[in-house]
Amino acid sequence: MSKRIAIFTSGGDCAGLNAVMRAAVLRADALGWEVIGIENGTAGLLDNPPRYKVLSPDDFNGTVMRMGGTILGTTNSRNPFAYEMPDGSIKDRSDELISALKALDIESLIGIGGDGSFEILGRLVKQGGLNFVGVPKTIDNDVHMTDFAVGYDTAVAVATEALDRLQPTAASHDRVMVLEVMGRDAGHIALTAGIAGGADVILIPEIPYEIEKIAEKIQSIKENGRNFALVIVSEAVRTPDGKKYEVVYHGGETRYGGIGDYLGVKIAEATGFETRVTVLGHVQRGAEPTYNDRLLAAVLGVKAVELLAEGTFGRMVAVQGGDVVDVAIEDAIKECNIVDVNGKRVHTARSLGISFGD
Ligand code: F6P
Repeated sequence: MSKRIAIFTSGGDCAGLNAVMRAAVLRADALGWEVIGIENGTAGLLDNPPRYKVLSPDDFNGTVMRMGGTILGTTNSRNPFAYEMPDGSIKDRSDELISALKALDIESLIGIGGDGSFEILGRLVKQGGLNFVGVPKTIDNDVHMTDFAVGYDTAVAVATEALDRLQPTAASHDRVMVLEVMGRDAGHIALTAGIAGGADVILIPEIPYEIEKIAEKIQSIKENGRNFALVIVSEAVRTPDGKKYEVVYHGGETRYGGIGDYLGVKIAEATGFETRVTVLGHVQRGAEPTYNDRLLAAVLGVKAVELLAEGTFGRMVAVQGGDVVDVAIEDAIKECNIVDVNGKRVHTARSLGISFGD
């Protein structure tokens, strides 16, 4: 097997990516392997000349493992099977990408990505006969078959801190504060930060809600003598009649966004409370990784290299119930890990008197 392996980050960035790289580079170095970091997801391989850098333990001596973002760069809009060319046409460049990898004498790959990236990478490695191991990362924590993905813990910490900062200003002004958080179609960030940050109402895409029920909760808070309330809402929550809130960016790409403003108006109308809305956005992705994310990054980065060393490919490293395991990539991408509405965490929230608006 080749002693030159490649590592890259793919999809949206999050905290802890550099820490995964560091762990993989240190473990690979101990095995005498060379590690190439591909830049800008796999897209760096489609440039001429290909964009990559050799990564050595020295690259990770100082601040890098503590930094958010990814020193390699990443992209969530460069699918090699449907690559948008400068003239706007769409081209399948998967064969070019595989040839570029082979030209660099790389046979083993570690991809740090989410479910979307793994789906594309799964096709690519099959087509190219490449040896691949995936490391799950995403603030959304929606990757199936792992309890945690790198980056999620930090995003929750940021969202919790946002609630901590909103509470005193809410209390000072007798206001309802609505905090809109990311998470795509999974409500994990809102649910976990909502419990940790003392939210009164948590709205997640998995649980349908009614404005009247939210208003009842807020009125009961007022009747009990409290002058403020905190609401956390996940970006993919729809209006009660099913309307999706999205932002259309230049070039036509859409992302969730705007449900917080909708709810702010509705809550003010229904309760008479002055309401303000904060959209946390990419702030959740850019933070320094928490110790939990650094630890997860270390464990999964080391495990990924060890799988390559023992010749186990086509797997995603994962944590399940405290154990470090590996699962088939095909199984990991079969479904999305959304919030279990009958699960323990929702039960805990309900037991604390938190309303889901249902
Ligand atoms: O998947 C991670 C995520 O941050 C989602 O929570 C969010 O909906 C999306 O990416 C934002 O994407 P972009 O960085 O392209 O705006």
